[in-house]
Amino acid sequence: MQTQAETDTIDGVRTDTRTNKRKVFVKTYGCQMNVYDSERMADALSKDGYQPTDNPEEADLLLLNTCHIREKAAEKVYSELGRIRKLKEARAEDGAELMVGVAGCVAQAEGQEIIRRAPIVDLVIGPQTYHRLPQAIARARKGEKVVETEYAIEDKFDHLPEPEKKVIASRGITAFLTVQEGCDKFCTFCVVPYTRGSEVSRPVDQIAREARQLVAAGVREITLLGQNVNAWHGEGEDGREWGLGELLRLLAGIEGLERLRYTTSHPRDMDDALIAAHRDLDKLMPYLHLPVQAGSDSVLKAMNRRHTADDYLRLVDRIRAARPDIALSGDFIVGFPGETDADFEDTLRLVERVRYAQAFSFKYSPRPGTPGAERDDHIPEDVKSDRLERLQALLRKHQTEFAESRVGMTIDLLLEKPGRRPGQLIGRSPWLQPVIIDAKSSQIGEIIKVRITQTGTNSLFAEILQGESGSSTI
Ligand code: 5AD
Ligand code: SF4
Repeated sequence: MQTQAETDTIDGVRTDTRTNKRKVFVKTYGCQMNVYDSERMADALSKDGYQPTDNPEEADLLLLNTCHIREKAAEKVYSELGRIRKLKEARAEDGAELMVGVAGCVAQAEGQEIIRRAPIVDLVIGPQTYHRLPQAIARARKGEKVVETEYAIEDKFDHLPEPEKKVIASRGITAFLTVQEGCDKFCTFCVVPYTRGSEVSRPVDQIAREARQLVAAGVREITLLGQNVNAWHGEGEDGREWGLGELLRLLAGIEGLERLRYTTSHPRDMDDALIAAHRDLDKLMPYLHLPVQAGSDSVLKAMNRRHTADDYLRLVDRIRAARPDIALSGDFIVGFPGETDADFEDTLRLVERVRYAQAFSFKYSPRPGTPGAERDDHIPEDVKSDRLERLQALLRKHQTEFAESRVGMTIDLLLEKPGRRPGQLIGRSPWLQPVIIDAKSSQIGEIIKVRITQTGTNSLFAEILQGESGSSTI
């Protein structure tokens, strides 16, 4: 909390008298895309005189960057807004103002309804209109209830501000970079095509410029983001149409950038050039998040995934042939309408075949407005729960086996940040597992050779190999 001496009220807005800056607190829900968007909103607002804070109590502007992908997301937002109402009322008693904004996919999906149900909200802004945030806030400050959810997505990429150097600098060793947004696939369970709009790719030069800026600010690992990241395409520097494989090749040429990752991919967009990138680029980490959702052909068809279980398995074989040490991760949905016991067994069989290093699994949750939600053959909750439990037990077993198979291996570790205990640092293995090691904080940003010594609950422990320095390969 700030003390009274440090704050003042100007135009009904508390400012820090030392910096004369307003403060913004952003709470982020959901996927990495939202994490990236929150950072860019903070960038846009910092140009507008707002300083980020991680304490909601001292904020003048509170933004919820929401997620709509699964159950009760909107309800969670409304109950959070209930808590914020008390904060806003307390602030008003002090004669000051707390502005409240709802951003992200719930904002896009609910729009005006949010202000109807939670009148304390001053501003509702969808994910494709963040470049209009400063103007929207200015309007809200004049007393208007602002709802900004109309979009032409190209606008967003054209108008988002370049990240400020000092903001980037505070982001550390790893960073996200959005290269693609939206989705045209229309899986029948998914709201993304409705909340994030249709697929748009950022141009190569914009991406390369942002990557170079990040690297100049000390970033060593970049994760390219997109709802359908491997559907990214654009005109390459050679004038030809590029896919993600060619883009990765270009970015791998940036000096000082040590590691590249990307997420999330659709199996249908894993083309030959991308698989070849996994074979050829040492900087491209051997980890691939490749959701399959289900292992039964009839469920895959009902989900509109437009591939069979066998297509997926053959693809996995090709990827593994190109990059044998690659770790695969996946997403699964159990209890999609119409899923039989036999269908579910097919999912377990596919999981046995692939043996994921990491996975995320969910009970199907009907999303209003999606074709899945309209079906009349929904699966009872208790059946969904049983299936999820069985699936998760199997996925957990494979994840543990994968972690244990790393013990004794020598790897290059990128040291990212301090660990929980003094004297410890945390990095990520090439396979995205957190690795804990005793090292000096001055080593953050270095890549060092370490040997994995044991597994923890969700992490690995390692020791430094004396006298050896790391390279950019594993
Ligand atoms: N119900 C359950 N899980 C879902 N996902 C997306 N939509 C739904 C839904 N309606 C899961 C998918 C997706 C991940 C991000 O969230 O597995 O890959
Ligand atoms: Fe949703 Fe399917 Fe698009 Fe992924 S590919 S965002 S699951 S519609």
